[in-house]
Amino acid sequence: MKMAISNPYKDQFHSLTKKLFPWTLYALLPIALLSLYLYPLPFLPSTESELPHSTSNIIISHSTPPSFASTPPSSEKENTFDTPSCDYFNGKWIRDRRGPLYNGTTCGTIKEGQNCIKHGRPDSGYLYWRWKPSECKLPRFEPKTFLELVENKHIAFVGDSMARNQLESLLCMLSTFSNPNLVYTSGDDNKFRRWHFDSHNATVSVYWSPFLVQGVEKSNEGPNHNKLYLDLVDERWAKDMDEMDYVVLSIGHWFLHPAVYFEGGLVLGCHYCVGLNHTEIGFYEVLRKALRTTLNSIIDRRGNKGSKIDVIVTTFSPAHFEGEWDKAGACPKTKPYRDREKELEGMDSEMRKIEIEEVEDAKVKGSEFGGVRFEALDVTKLALLRPDGHPGPYMYPFPFANGVQERVQNDCVHWCLPGPVDTWNEIFLEIMKKWEDHPRTQE
Ligand SMILES: *[C@@H]1O[C@H](CO)[C@@H](O)[C@H](O)[C@H]1NC(C)=O
Ligand SMILES: *[C@@H]1O[C@H](CO)[C@@H](O)[C@H](O)[C@H]1NC(C)=O
Ligand SMILES: *[C@@H]1O[C@H](CO)[C@@H](O)[C@H](O)[C@H]1NC(C)=O
Repeated sequence: MKMAISNPYKDQFHSLTKKLFPWTLYALLPIALLSLYLYPLPFLPSTESELPHSTSNIIISHSTPPSFASTPPSSEKENTFDTPSCDYFNGKWIRDRRGPLYNGTTCGTIKEGQNCIKHGRPDSGYLYWRWKPSECKLPRFEPKTFLELVENKHIAFVGDSMARNQLESLLCMLSTFSNPNLVYTSGDDNKFRRWHFDSHNATVSVYWSPFLVQGVEKSNEGPNHNKLYLDLVDERWAKDMDEMDYVVLSIGHWFLHPAVYFEGGLVLGCHYCVGLNHTEIGFYEVLRKALRTTLNSIIDRRGNKGSKIDVIVTTFSPAHFEGEWDKAGACPKTKPYRDREKELEGMDSEMRKIEIEEVEDAKVKGSEFGGVRFEALDVTKLALLRPDGHPGPYMYPFPFANGVQERVQNDCVHWCLPGPVDTWNEIFLEIMKKWEDHPRTQE
């Protein structure tokens, strides 16, 4: 039976490597990884060597950052955060002896594939870094402050598995202060869940919607491409929009999959749709349209009622595959890149740019109404500098218990929990504090 499942991407890889669209170079590996979730059994044949090689041209690796031992303990002046306009997104990762707020045993909400410590990841250095913005200090996450800000409110995370990754980080940090009760769950793999913090009457939820707009995801049974309806927001989450006070949107990686795109009921084009007679249009402008439809729908539905909603768009989080993705050591680094050691470029840069532009556009539109605020959580660069933060082979428990096998599945896209993604939520909290200090009426 297992042998009967063929690799759904084999033909696409072959035809695409001939066409050599610039973005295919960046797209192949994430697709290969995501295919693991949908088609978990077969590995790519080792003859598919263009797959790993396709990304080697975007990997820059030279000397390593200073070691822990040679770095003095953090003693820098703790500038208090009084400038409302600190740029949190430029800076560097510096050593921090304090380590994470939580661990995989204290927090009950970590998805198995990201519970690296529990799965036997041997090194722990990746836990002892903090982000230092160039212009200010990023305070350590304060669960109490966060819960006070969301008291009597509902904060929803909407998007793909990166949205879930960020949500689980937040829940783990909040649960060091107050216990969340899981009050709702539905969908395969608990894709729709809701927690309630009785202490603050705060609701935190997650909605699976990898495109934000309506779509039919590819599956083993159905077509092996996604269908996206770019002008229609996905009601699986949007139907609850009226009861959300904060929305965190996080999408990107699913746009690399094969897909047919519809707009106004007509086929707009497609991406990787081998065998279908549609125009190949890539995925950048599609991502833009999906985001624009989403942000516009929030303005349309929430802007006019004088209601209040704050919207965060977490920007694209780069993958860090090196060498062959299905071998041991696909993301082997154990330290962050130093500032300027790795530049933001290519697909990562383009995806981020589109997201930032759409958020800026929505800010202008939303400002007409006063009740709708938008901000980008621009983590792309922070994320790019953390090749050490992924589960890699530890997406599965003790992957080397029986020695190093020839093929090892690696996750170099999601983040270990605890891990770098905790910092996304630290910055998110600073944005919320800034919003709180600048009431809407003054904007
Ligand atoms: C996790 O944290 C708890 C509480 O702080 C502590 O008792 C426990 O030893 C920690 N576990 C690990 C594996 O670090
Ligand atoms: C609890 O929070 C919800 C919003 O999430 C709100 O509608 C409700 O009124 C709150 N309950 C109390 C007792 O304040
Ligand atoms: C593909 O589409 C073009 C333009 O719409 C059409 O001329 C052509 O006949 C189509 N080919 C097939 C195989 O359907």
